[in-house]
Amino acid sequence: MTALTLSTSSAAALRADAVVVGVAKGAKGPVVAVGAEAVDKAFGGKLAAVLETLGATGAEGEVTKLPAASGLKAPVVLAVGLGEVPAKDDGYDAETLRRAAGAAARALSGSKKGAFALPIEDPADATAVAEGALLGAYTYDKSNGNGGNAKDKDKDKKNNGPLAEVALVGGKPRDKAYKAAVERAAALVSEVNRARDLINTPSNLLNPAVFAAEAVAAAKEHGLKAEVLDEKALKKGGYGGILGVGQGSEAPPRLVRIAYTHPKAEKTLALVGKGITYDSGGISLKPAGHNETMKCDMSGAAAVFAAVVTAAKLGLRVNLTGWLALAENMPSGSATRPGDVLSMYSGKTVEVLNTDAEGRLVLADAITRAGEEKPDAIVDVATLTGAMVLALGNRTFGIMTNDEAFRTTLHEVAGEVGEQSWPMPLPDHLRKGIDSPVADLANLGERMGSGLVAGIFLKEFVADGITWGHLDIAGPAFNESGPFGYTPKGGTGAAVRTLVRLAERTADGDLG
Ligand code: BES
Ligand code: MN
Ligand code: ZN
Repeated sequence: MTALTLSTSSAAALRADAVVVGVAKGAKGPVVAVGAEAVDKAFGGKLAAVLETLGATGAEGEVTKLPAASGLKAPVVLAVGLGEVPAKDDGYDAETLRRAAGAAARALSGSKKGAFALPIEDPADATAVAEGALLGAYTYDKSNGNGGNAKDKDKDKKNNGPLAEVALVGGKPRDKAYKAAVERAAALVSEVNRARDLINTPSNLLNPAVFAAEAVAAAKEHGLKAEVLDEKALKKGGYGGILGVGQGSEAPPRLVRIAYTHPKAEKTLALVGKGITYDSGGISLKPAGHNETMKCDMSGAAAVFAAVVTAAKLGLRVNLTGWLALAENMPSGSATRPGDVLSMYSGKTVEVLNTDAEGRLVLADAITRAGEEKPDAIVDVATLTGAMVLALGNRTFGIMTNDEAFRTTLHEVAGEVGEQSWPMPLPDHLRKGIDSPVADLANLGERMGSGLVAGIFLKEFVADGITWGHLDIAGPAFNESGPFGYTPKGGTGAAVRTLVRLAERTADGDLG
């Protein structure tokens, strides 16, 4: 991953490929942001005027590169837009800084070192700039493909490699709080980027067994406890949902429990992730145009995995148990047929009316299993429904819960880390739609509001008295259009930062 340093020299004196400054949208044209003083001085105090002449406005996400003036060690100045100048004393909000730093880091991909002289007024600003720069610098190493091809490997390294080093300029680099702020950012982002790597890995290279092995290896490295139920153990345990979804594939399913514990923890959170390593739809096959990106259907499990490892790296005072429900949904002679009835881990039976509504089946078993340990709350994360994408678009995840206060907490927590989310209801009248004449439940209900129906189905598997939240990340998990801010094309790592913040707040006894 990109290296991160807190520099003690000035933006002018630092050797780097480019020095990054902020430019905001003022009433009378672009305004150079705090942090860029030394750079502006090298331009004789005319940096804003030069930028305006070059067409810069200070709009969010705008990137302008210009040759450096003499007196600067870096040969290039990169001005990144910050949007409107904030009201006096307010400063830029964290998400604005994160996005700007991300856009700048992307524009520097392939370079060795960027000196980030963005407005940093407190340690929280330093975290935001560090997170944004490291998240934005991410690139997926395509040379991993199918064992790797040496020639492509070299090409990739030269052309698309990430910015190798981010040096933060500004703030108080010798201050403990600043050091801690950037260390936290580096720990968190390396895990978000781990989730992105897993999501971007093609399904022929990441099946349930490979994913489970990754979890075991990471657990070993970070002192976590990992247990893997393979297909035999799943059968013995009666996990009919996970087995039913996975039985059409040559690559059998897994249920992974990966746990972080803190000796002084007072609360335990269970995180459950949908881990469909490929969703073809099964016998209810998805048509062309709907299956090309379905390697991303394990994004929930990737987010859960990344959040548990981050909690361990940060030593949070909370117990965090991750459940990765891993299966490949394929059509074959051994696949579940529409109309089949599965015996779930909970003991309930489910009529599978549509094999493409598979996520709720694997999640149901994992949620039941997670509930047996009586955690203080369960949060599941899943690329569950296309309906949620239609409702909320590509950048916002839906929140459904059995507890209003928890719904507010989850929405707030997401907002704190700059992830967009929105609360969705679980209307009672939709429950009867998943009645079945041959089983306790059907996995398909009314078409209208089918994102909520999926939530209502999951709620049936939450043990009484347990607070539960469901995050449908089908929209934001995978970015099919161009990169923006600190969000790359492909796997985004959606929900990792929200889960980590939730764990932090739980550790602080501040669940809201
Ligand atoms: N994995 C999909 C949902 C999805 C869609 C994720 C788009 C990411 C982007 C899920 O398993 C699925 O197929 N859902 C169906 C459910 C339907 C059959 C009730 C859907 O949303 O169409
Ligand atoms: Mn599906
Ligand atoms: Zn799916």
